[in-house]
Amino acid sequence: MAISYQFLNKIYLRPPKACDVKHYVSWWNESFSNYLDLGSVTGTPSKSAVSEFTRQVQDGYVPGWFTIMLWDEYIGDIRVGYIRYRNIDWKKKRVEIAIRLGRKYWGKGIGKSAIGELLAHLFYEKGLEEAWLSVASFNQRAIRLYEKCGFTELNRKMDPTKPELTWIIMGIHRSKFAKLVI
Ligand SMILES: CC(C)(COP(=O)(O)OP(=O)(O)OC[C@H]1O[C@@H](n2cnc3c(N)ncnc32)[C@H](O)[C@@H]1OP(=O)(O)O)[C@@H](O)C(=O)NCCC(=O)NCCS
Repeated sequence: MAISYQFLNKIYLRPPKACDVKHYVSWWNESFSNYLDLGSVTGTPSKSAVSEFTRQVQDGYVPGWFTIMLWDEYIGDIRVGYIRYRNIDWKKKRVEIAIRLGRKYWGKGIGKSAIGELLAHLFYEKGLEEAWLSVASFNQRAIRLYEKCGFTELNRKMDPTKPELTWIIMGIHRSKFAKLVI
C-alpha cells in the first residue's frame, strides 16, 4: 500500500524571509505556471515590483504572503512555493486567496495541505467567513485541488482582454470548512 507523502512530511506556512526572495523570483519566472495561473506566459513581475516586495520582506511586513515550507525527514526544511490572501472585505468577511508551488513539488498533495493551513488561519484566527479565488477554466489540476479543499463554483466570467479565456470563481464558507477533514 502506498504511504501518503503527507504522513512522512509536514507542510507549514511562515512569513517570507529575505533568504526566500530568490525562490519567489524563480517561481514568478516559471512561464508555464504564469500561463496556468494568469492565462499568459508573460506574468513575471516588473523589477520595481520585485524591489518593493524585497523591501517589504526586509522590513518584516509583507501582509498576506506566506512561504509554504515542507519539512522533510531526510533533508529538513524546504521552500516549496507561496500562498497568499488579499482583498479582505471586512464587511462581508470575504477574502481572496492564491497559491503557487515550484514545479517539482506539484502532484504530491502539498497544495491541499497549504490551503488547509491558510483557511484555518483566515477562518479561525482572522474571523473571516468566506474565501474565494479565480482560476482559468483550462487549469484542471488547480480546479481539482480546490474541489478537494471544499471549494465550489460561484460563477464564471470572460476575461476582459482575451475572450477565449474564461475565469471560474470558486468559494468556500467557514461552516463547510469546519465539517471537512483536510
Ligand atoms: C495548482 C497547484 C497549486 C496544485 O498543487 P498540487 O500540490 O499539485 O495539488 P494536489 O497534488 O494537492 O492536487 C492536485 C489534484 O489534481 C489532479 N490533477 C492533476 N492534473 C490534473 C488534470 N490535468 N486534470 C484533472 N485533475 C488533475 C491530481 O490527481 C490531484 O487530485 P487527486 O489528489 O484527487 O489525485 C500547483 O500545481 C501549482 O502551483 N501550479 C502552478 C500555478 C497554478 O496553477 N496556480 C493556481 C492558479 S489558480
